[in-house]
Amino acid sequence: MVAAGLYLLLLLPFALSRPAGLFKSKLVVRSSRATPPLGFVPITLAEDPGRTLRLTVALPQGNITGLHAALLDVSDPKSTNYGRHMSKSDVERLVMPAAESSKAVADWLSNNGITPSSISPSGDMLTIEVPASRANTLLNANFTTYIHDATNATMTRTLSYSLPDELGPHVSFIYPTTQFLSPSSRLRIRAVDHPTTMDGRRPTTRRADVASACSSEFGTTPECLQTLYNIPTISATASGNTLAVTGFLDEVPDPDDLKTFLARFRPDAPDGTFDFTSVNGGLTDGNGTSEASLDIQYTVGLATGVHTTFISVGGGQGTANDSPFLDEINFLLQQDVLPTVMTTSFAGSEPDDDDADFTSLAQTVCNGYAQLGLRGVSVLFGSGDGGVAGASPGVGCPSQSFIATFPSDCPFVTSVGATQQFEPEIAAPFSSGGFSNTFRRPDYQAAQVEKYLEALGETNAGLFNATGRAFPDVSFQGVGFPIVQNGRLNVLDGTSASSPSFASVVALINDQLLNAGKPSLGFMNPFLYSEAASGAFNDITSGSNPGCGTEGFPALPGWDPVTGLGTPDFERLLAAAMNAAQ
Ligand SMILES: *[C@@H]1O[C@H](CO)[C@@H](O)[C@H](O)[C@H]1NC(C)=O
Ligand SMILES: *[C@@H]1O[C@H](CO)[C@@H](O)[C@H](O)[C@H]1NC(C)=O
Ligand SMILES: *[C@@H]1O[C@H](CO)[C@@H](O)[C@H](O)[C@H]1NC(C)=O
Ligand SMILES: *[C@@H]1O[C@H](CO)[C@@H](O)[C@H](O)[C@H]1NC(C)=O
Ligand SMILES: *[C@@H]1O[C@H](CO)[C@@H](O)[C@H](O)[C@H]1NC(C)=O
Repeated sequence: MVAAGLYLLLLLPFALSRPAGLFKSKLVVRSSRATPPLGFVPITLAEDPGRTLRLTVALPQGNITGLHAALLDVSDPKSTNYGRHMSKSDVERLVMPAAESSKAVADWLSNNGITPSSISPSGDMLTIEVPASRANTLLNANFTTYIHDATNATMTRTLSYSLPDELGPHVSFIYPTTQFLSPSSRLRIRAVDHPTTMDGRRPTTRRADVASACSSEFGTTPECLQTLYNIPTISATASGNTLAVTGFLDEVPDPDDLKTFLARFRPDAPDGTFDFTSVNGGLTDGNGTSEASLDIQYTVGLATGVHTTFISVGGGQGTANDSPFLDEINFLLQQDVLPTVMTTSFAGSEPDDDDADFTSLAQTVCNGYAQLGLRGVSVLFGSGDGGVAGASPGVGCPSQSFIATFPSDCPFVTSVGATQQFEPEIAAPFSSGGFSNTFRRPDYQAAQVEKYLEALGETNAGLFNATGRAFPDVSFQGVGFPIVQNGRLNVLDGTSASSPSFASVVALINDQLLNAGKPSLGFMNPFLYSEAASGAFNDITSGSNPGCGTEGFPALPGWDPVTGLGTPDFERLLAAAMNAAQ
């Protein structure tokens, strides 16, 4: 309703009453760079193949200070408003742009004969679909398709774009233009095609101690994780508790593979299923791919009985869309009912140069996760698999400095790193962690991070930005996860395994909170770092995350930028969550 009303309001009255030629005024360069970042090579002008570009025009959001304050108010266990998540319309009111900004952008588009294909409910983002040649004229741009040589990902960008002078204050960025967010790559998965097929395999009886539960020839099985972290095996019962799994880059899970997986690894569980939600024509069938199979098998396979949805975000027919984060957020923010937990195993690296337009984009995406949190969603991301060298292994560290990952750098998501081995668990060396150059350190983690920096001393001095948001927040096993893909058994590693598994723990805690008449956890970080949750984690104190020609950061007692606060103990975390929600 809001969207439709706003849509009419924006397009009809103002457009008709405007004298033509208002925006004939001078175009002013909005963002420009001399060359693409290292590793991006132009391959073709985007207009040659006659591409349609889907561009998001983002307007300055209204009350961002209020959004952040409201989010902390409902997420801090010490606040009297803890757990009082806000309604869709109240959240929209916070981010709604100023009326003159909406009007200026609507006038500009209609004067150019462009009708937005969608408008976000709060009116802060408009999507337009235009041929590349048209976008070039409109924005005085030169849209070109680039290939990222380390990953072979392609993306359409321009080295500069301009906007009419008077529109300047009313647009915070247009995306994609000059932001070379390095590809939202799959987190690294090391796959081993296991020689054993699934046929003829019989379920084993459950083993109660970690040493035997985690010694399976198949590696880190659901049984191992349940035993290690005291995760309950009985079925969740609360209604309205939904776990959402993000699917990007044509990743798709196969329900038959899930059936085979559960028959082998969760014979005690009821039949597990999941739903598909397709955004922009995202795939909903096909042979299972590794990332999606892993994500679905360790959500449905661990969050026993929790309703699970795979959100498959596509590029849309004939349109270029190489960073689906914004599209997923905009889809979710339109929904009246949201999942209680969402896990995403895709990440990019923060750019190694100063790009104001990237910063605006990152802040808007991050504010999107803040809005989800304010509505009661726990948003989890794998921290990345390149150690201190960022999201994509093998890209290296062009400026020598460590590279933070996006969106784990957003202070309003929970970033999940990886551990390996048992009794004791130690840090997995690929587990990304460190300090953002884009987002400042939030207060909720200040005490723990300062304690770490003190213990670290001069190690890695000059290679990271100690004032930045520090990540990951927590960790979970991430090595040797068996999955079924195309009927075969593969064994995978990555924070790609850690994030969905941790999300399952959150979903099972929410089940008990909801059944006790308490709110879902929502944005968890202020709680996780608080006194209320101290003791709920297994502290990981050895290992490190090498990269950029260094040993990376060492895991130390307390929080560290490899394993965060540690791995969860279900019973202790549940007790803390129940207490916090008094
Ligand atoms: C911004 O939001 C806060 C709620 O966090 C509210 O108290 C404040 O009045 C709002 N400010 C404006 C200018 O609307
Ligand atoms: C557009 O970019 C391409 C690739 O970098 C370049 O070859 C071409 O000269 C540019 N065109 C204009 C008009 O700047
Ligand atoms: C990228 O493509 C080239 C040529 O097809 C291939 O040799 C190379 O291995 C690919 N790199 C990656 C990371 O897939
Ligand atoms: C899907 O998997 C089947 C069986 O493994 C295989 O024969 C087929 O070629 C695959 N299809 C695609 C599109 O990869
Ligand atoms: C360090 O991080 C802050 C954000 O906390 C940022 O404003 C600043 O530009 C960063 N410094 C460098 C050298 O990137």
